[in-house]
Amino acid sequence: MSVASAPSDTAALDLAVRLGRLRLPNPILVASGTFGYAREMAGLVDLARLGGIVPKTITRAARPGNAPWRTVETAAGMLNSIGLDNDGIDAFLEHHLPYLSSLGTPIVVSIAGKTHDEFIEMAAQVGRASGAAALELNISCPNVSGGVDFGADPAMCEKVVAGVRKVCDLPLLAKLTPNVASIATIARAAEAGGADAITAINTLLGMAVDWKRRRPILGNVVGGLSGPAIKPVALRCVFQVSQAVKIPIVAAGGIATIDDVMEFLVAGASAVQIGTANFYDPTCSMKVLDALPGALAQLGAKSVAEVVGTIKLEKK
Ligand SMILES: Cc1cc2nc3c(=O)[nH]c(=O)nc-3n(C[C@H](O)[C@H](O)[C@H](O)COP(=O)(O)O)c2cc1C
Repeated sequence: MSVASAPSDTAALDLAVRLGRLRLPNPILVASGTFGYAREMAGLVDLARLGGIVPKTITRAARPGNAPWRTVETAAGMLNSIGLDNDGIDAFLEHHLPYLSSLGTPIVVSIAGKTHDEFIEMAAQVGRASGAAALELNISCPNVSGGVDFGADPAMCEKVVAGVRKVCDLPLLAKLTPNVASIATIARAAEAGGADAITAINTLLGMAVDWKRRRPILGNVVGGLSGPAIKPVALRCVFQVSQAVKIPIVAAGGIATIDDVMEFLVAGASAVQIGTANFYDPTCSMKVLDALPGALAQLGAKSVAEVVGTIKLEKK
């Protein structure tokens, strides 16, 4: 469509998106592990404007995380092996969720269990507490021993999503790993289990080497690659998942500009999460949010939903 057909009043555009049972005021979220518990960002970002906040993944017990080094800069990205450093679910519910839920922004609580039962117990606990708008199941962290099993095995994935669904009424997002042969297969399993939406993707497994010392740089030897370097992989995953399931997709992976956001929407995502970009430009989410109405108008779209999955595959 031409720019000439763009609506003249961008304020009239509908930025709201629906992810199954979850309604968000706009499609710009911040990704787990890259925004702390939001307090740290309050002076830099108008938190109330965000479409959603996904705080750092919580586990049942507190975890100190992995040994240093835990982050390394790479070409167009970074590697991390934080290892789900967090104070545990009780501390989160007591100290962080009350603040987060006071912001008026949808809070998507991210949980990771070491076992099936841990996922179920934690989901029930978050469901009982007030303040969460939705639950994101981190079945894709590459930094915890055994952590990717639920995201790598379709049967385990379906079972854990279905189990959580039974004990928790919150809308459910299943966050998937790209470190599998077929992300579409895992997405179908999450859909079959009752997920409201898929989050794609978590980090790609990588490694950095200090050749002079003949040592791996990360304390955990391997870590997760993120940032602009992984955007093409994330786009491919979002597209493949969109072809495989009917539920909406939340994209993550190297998103830093309004062009990135629009590419993911066109490729099939209904919303996006900004991750690594928060580290080098904490105001990134505000910038893309400011630019979103203009970009939609350029396509002649009156809503975000109108653009989602509109990629043209037929040959010219
Ligand atoms: C330092 C760091 C910590 C992260 N911690 C988490 C986490 O706790 N839970 C999670 O689901 N994803 C975590 N991620 C993955 C991001 O949420 C995101 O899925 C991934 O980095 C891809 O997006 P990006 O390229 O925009 O960063 C982390 C990423 C980074 C860089």
